[in-house]
Amino acid sequence: MSEQKVLVVYSGVYGHTHKVCEAMRPVLEAHGATVTLAALPEEQPEPSAFDAVLIGAAIRNGKHNPAVLEFIERHQAMLAQKVNAFFSINLVARKPHKNTAETNPYTRAFLQSSPWQPQQVGVFGGRLDYRRYRPFDRWVIRFIMWMNKGPTDLDTQVEFTDWDAVARFAEDFAVRLKTRPA
Ligand SMILES: Cc1cc2nc3c(=O)[nH]c(=O)nc-3n(C[C@H](O)[C@H](O)[C@H](O)COP(=O)(O)O)c2cc1C
Repeated sequence: MSEQKVLVVYSGVYGHTHKVCEAMRPVLEAHGATVTLAALPEEQPEPSAFDAVLIGAAIRNGKHNPAVLEFIERHQAMLAQKVNAFFSINLVARKPHKNTAETNPYTRAFLQSSPWQPQQVGVFGGRLDYRRYRPFDRWVIRFIMWMNKGPTDLDTQVEFTDWDAVARFAEDFAVRLKTRPA
């Protein structure tokens, strides 16, 4: 069987979404896939050249970047023909009862608004690191944390990401890709 090509399209601002994508890479490669990462909106990859497409996006001020939905709308028909998956990264998902497609409010809203319904959905906690943020972002996210009882100390540096869950997600994706009917 020839090597399977996986496109990972992602959208984030402060590097954590990219880190999650990079954590999936060795898992996918261990199953013989080649992995190409592309950051929206700067890069606009063509999904037709790939066997599988994984789309990941962080939440910022209550929303995924609109470029994600635009990408999905533009390539909807092509996405449906591929092995595909979506994952969302946000801080609400640090709460165990809010880290599934059914219980995470942003992921639910995304699935309601998206014309593409992914075959597999992941929800992972994000990173909180006030020192990294531009001043305006720092105050916005601090307010959001205050609202939902998260850490507000400006020295906080924490990854709420369940890395085992990230690896399992990538593993499930790779297995689906390998076992899909020809
Ligand atoms: C300016 C800003 C706004 C955010 N807004 C939300 C939000 O509304 N809800 C939430 O759950 N997480 C929110 N987050 C948390 C991010 O989703 C999380 O930090 C994620 O890891 C960011 O990924 P990135 O480093 O790829 O940008 C926000 C983060 C920042 C910096």
